[in-house]
Amino acid sequence: MQPLAGIEACAFDAYGTLFDVASPARRCTDALGDDAPRLAALWRERQLAYSWLRTVQGRHVDFWQVTSDALDFALDALRVDDAALRARLLELYRTPDVYAEVPAMLAALRRAGVFTAILSNGAPAMLASAARASGLDAMLDAVWSVEAAGVFKPHPDVYRLAVDGSGRRAHAIAFVSSNGWDAHAASAFGMRAIWCNRHAEPDERLPGAPDRVVATLARLPVLVGVGDGAT
Ligand code: LAC
Repeated sequence: MQPLAGIEACAFDAYGTLFDVASPARRCTDALGDDAPRLAALWRERQLAYSWLRTVQGRHVDFWQVTSDALDFALDALRVDDAALRARLLELYRTPDVYAEVPAMLAALRRAGVFTAILSNGAPAMLASAARASGLDAMLDAVWSVEAAGVFKPHPDVYRLAVDGSGRRAHAIAFVSSNGWDAHAASAFGMRAIWCNRHAEPDERLPGAPDRVVATLARLPVLVGVGDGAT
């Protein structure tokens, strides 16, 4: 795959891209049993839907509130009424698992002098906790939360945070997301977009288009022209 030329910064979506959003439910399989994957899927679906719906309505609350509300919906849908389990799931969402290839990939970008950042719907406290617990904080130049824009993705004001925060032109920033709609929106904004299509999903029919599509982030440094393929 041809590397993208002229990339100076990489901005990463957090949930689903660096952090595994299915991991909190998976770590509660003892309590959830076979419902763990379904709970994880419903929770994530509702979390995104609520972020979009609230943005359309102009009724913003932060992503921690949205995540809590979505969990309550998902637990209700599965007829689970267990306050201790709810608290445990939410607590685990503060420290989700990191995808295996991520630390070495970020380290390689940093070694090559690429500016690295998170650009996420996450509220500042939840992003800080996830980055600290995973050790990714040491490999990131910045963590940008949509709270600085007061709207959720895919509002263009969110993608502008990466331009303002990095001091780079949009075209020199590679935005990396496992969410196809997020990659499309970053592309429509003017950034280069890399879709990490972890679950082999079909292409989204939305404005913009990912410049590159990969299945994992292992070869991302090569893709932005700085790696040797070893990561
Ligand atoms: C985020 C969500 C969209 O981290 O995954 O911004």
